Amino acid sequence: MPATRDVVLLLGSLRRASWTRRIATALIRLAPPSLKLEIVEIGDLPLYNQDLDDEKRVPAQWQAFRDRVARADAVIFATPEYNRSVPGVLKNAIDVGSRPSRAGALNNKPAAVVSVSPGALSGFGANQHLRQSLVFLNMPTLQQPEVYLGAVTSLVDAEGNIIKDETKKFLVSFLEAFAAWIEKVR
Ligand code: FNR
Repeated sequence: MPATRDVVLLLGSLRRASWTRRIATALIRLAPPSLKLEIVEIGDLPLYNQDLDDEKRVPAQWQAFRDRVARADAVIFATPEYNRSVPGVLKNAIDVGSRPSRAGALNNKPAAVVSVSPGALSGFGANQHLRQSLVFLNMPTLQQPEVYLGAVTSLVDAEGNIIKDETKKFLVSFLEAFAAWIEKVR
């Protein structure tokens, strides 16, 4: 029986009825016993300002976030696309979690990226821009399967149940691949 890995889910949307959050809820339900997924909220993180780190005035929200991420075995980023890139709220969380340089809570954690869009392009721009940051943070990121969820309004209901069987199978295979990836790169 493999160990249960603690996986933090960071979401790129703060919207109450977010499709991304619905997909995250589905991922939590579909995860194999070897993965325990938990959404960590990032909406209350003050905007990153390096002065606060340099002057050792780290906000309590930053510290709590850094401590939670540091405890995790891995991270899944699930995000919509804003203007063909990563929403500012998620980029801010990455910036907060990336410091101190090379010793930030996110550094070296195994990661996976899920992009979500009601549109046809599936958040491709956000997915790829996010991967660029993960390279810099030396986060070993699952390459395949890539998860681009386009036309998301036809994939999941308001309670986070996946409507389409083929999407459910795909997400299960993604989570299994991620579980194997975590064991491989640990
Ligand atoms: C969007 N949206 C969007 N969609 C997309 O596929 N590519 C994009 O570049 C953008 N850009 C964009 C910018 C801004 C500021 C907003 C508010 C929205 C639409 C977006 O995909 C849609 O609002 C989703 O529903 C957002 O995800 P959540 O909140 O439902 O998870």
